[in-house]
Amino acid sequence: MILRPLTLLVGAIPLASAFYLPGAAPKDYLPGDAVPLLVNRLSPQSFGGRSEMKGLLSYDYYDEGFGFCKPKPEPKQQSESLGSALFGDRLWDSPFQINMLQNVSCRHLCTSYLDKTSSEFLAERIAESYSQNWLVDGLPAAEMKQDEVTKELFYSAGFALGSQASPGEDGKERVQINNHFDIFLEYHSPDGMRNRVVGAVVWPRSLNSLGAGRTPSCSGEQPFVVRGEATNEIAYTYSVVWRESATTFGTRFDHYLRVFDPRIHVLSLINSIVIAAFLCLMVAMILLRTINRDISRYNSVDLDEDIQEDFGWKLVHGEVFRPPKKRMWLSVAVGSGAQLLAMSAVTLVFALLGFLSPSNRGALSTLMLVAYTLFGCISGYVSSRVFASLKGEEWRKNIGLTAVLFPGFLFLFLHLLNFFLIGSGSSGAVPFGTFLAILALWFFLNMPLTVVGAWLGVKKGAISHPVRVNQIPRQIPPTEWWLKPWPSALIAGILPFGAGFIELSYLLQSLFGAKIYFAFGFLALTSVIVALTTATTTILMCYFHLCAEDYRWHWRAFLAGGGSAFWLLAYGLFYWATKLELPGIANKVLFLGYLLLISLLDFFITGAIGFVSCYLFLRVIYSRIRVD
Ligand SMILES: *[C@@H]1O[C@H](CO)[C@@H](O)[C@H](O)[C@H]1NC(C)=O
Repeated sequence: MILRPLTLLVGAIPLASAFYLPGAAPKDYLPGDAVPLLVNRLSPQSFGGRSEMKGLLSYDYYDEGFGFCKPKPEPKQQSESLGSALFGDRLWDSPFQINMLQNVSCRHLCTSYLDKTSSEFLAERIAESYSQNWLVDGLPAAEMKQDEVTKELFYSAGFALGSQASPGEDGKERVQINNHFDIFLEYHSPDGMRNRVVGAVVWPRSLNSLGAGRTPSCSGEQPFVVRGEATNEIAYTYSVVWRESATTFGTRFDHYLRVFDPRIHVLSLINSIVIAAFLCLMVAMILLRTINRDISRYNSVDLDEDIQEDFGWKLVHGEVFRPPKKRMWLSVAVGSGAQLLAMSAVTLVFALLGFLSPSNRGALSTLMLVAYTLFGCISGYVSSRVFASLKGEEWRKNIGLTAVLFPGFLFLFLHLLNFFLIGSGSSGAVPFGTFLAILALWFFLNMPLTVVGAWLGVKKGAISHPVRVNQIPRQIPPTEWWLKPWPSALIAGILPFGAGFIELSYLLQSLFGAKIYFAFGFLALTSVIVALTTATTTILMCYFHLCAEDYRWHWRAFLAGGGSAFWLLAYGLFYWATKLELPGIANKVLFLGYLLLISLLDFFITGAIGFVSCYLFLRVIYSRIRVD
């Protein structure tokens, strides 16, 4: 209980109680006013405390296969923000009639006839634990669940489409559909006149309600078992109960925000952060002492005019700032990474300030999209300055590539995934209009901003280096196997990955378990630690490379920084193998696609961090030795 305020504090400062963000203002209803019930896509969800998931595809509510009742004459699609459309929300109106303060005991919605194909489709989705997602006055209709550890009751957004039925006589697995909904709504009345919806819980039931009289009743006991290889006639019914509640409008989302196993989350997080911070500090201190010793030795050797030769990293002082191969690509990569980094940072800050409350549907993804678009100027600036510092000449080409390469890749990649979604009939497919909007954002906002940023970078010019570059490159002696680019990247990636691992597993659970993630405080803390460990380990690796007289650090720093991405990828595959059951090719492609995308973004972000921190480190140490 003590942990709850703590987690809320770390999670998000509840600004929402002070003022309402657009779209989150309370709506007042007089008794009898119609309260809208919107239906969203159906998504797979883990039930019964298990964290396994069986699919990733989501389906439109009015997909023919479900045969849900439709409003007359036609269902109307509801408007959504760009971000929420991009990430799969599909809101429609529904035929449920709900009026403020009016209880409904048993209302027949419609009777739906499913042919053989639809019945099979429905049975499959039930077997895959799909859940319905409704919004009552913007509030997700929830199922009541009990935490296994703390025994606390909490709301879990969405409720089951159906459940496993007892096997038939032939021993075959069967499923039953939830065709009756007991809707419990809570209202709060600040002044006795106006009423606000502050709670929405649905108890779904399966009911074989079509008796001989053909008018369904809601009082039966028999479940409706879906006959898999035949037609089905399903009667949908619902009842509504309104109850007064002390919950105020500003806190109506609090029931949903529950850290899973709060004790474990906090403790494991503190544990991992302390360890990571400790390691980070140790590495930094050892490095600092060693380098200080090196520097004083180098400088004293020079003073004594000793015949002793140079050794260690001083040997390569004439080489470290020699431009690497493929500097064009490197600078574009660093620029793109910096852009992503800025986007993530801004999103996290906004989330921390409580601007991304769950009542603002799609706020997070919209914000990310906008931030990414605007930060084109950062990618342009960083890319062109890095390129100039690496003695690159073709700055026009650099600007062009920065503006086109990474955003274009992202666009194409998402487009390809979208093809798969369309092909599999999932509602996750991004509508054409949304795609046009994104294309417009890219061409008319992101590209010009990138060019402006890059132009500023070109004006500012190259960063000067503390030591000169020799005319003739040195020979590089053969190095140990673990100092080769790939092994060293993998080694360097362990620590940052380990630091972020715990939070990552919670994030994945929320992402693929359709739970609301809100522990942004933890996430911000973890991100800072990951960034710090990335910088430290990259610098350490860089130091080892230079001591081995291998001065080709540019690409290696980027690789070593991004090393955690390989572990992330491996962990994602492991998660798939142990926790996910993904039927069908489309699910697999989708999961792999998202995993690759996330790993790639991580690679660019941490790679840019690695490169920049390594460069700063080299500047510092080489400006402190005396070179003649
Ligand atoms: C609706 O039903 C509930 C439970 O039976 C009852 O407590 C409540 O007073 C009813 N509300 C109205 C407006 O009739």
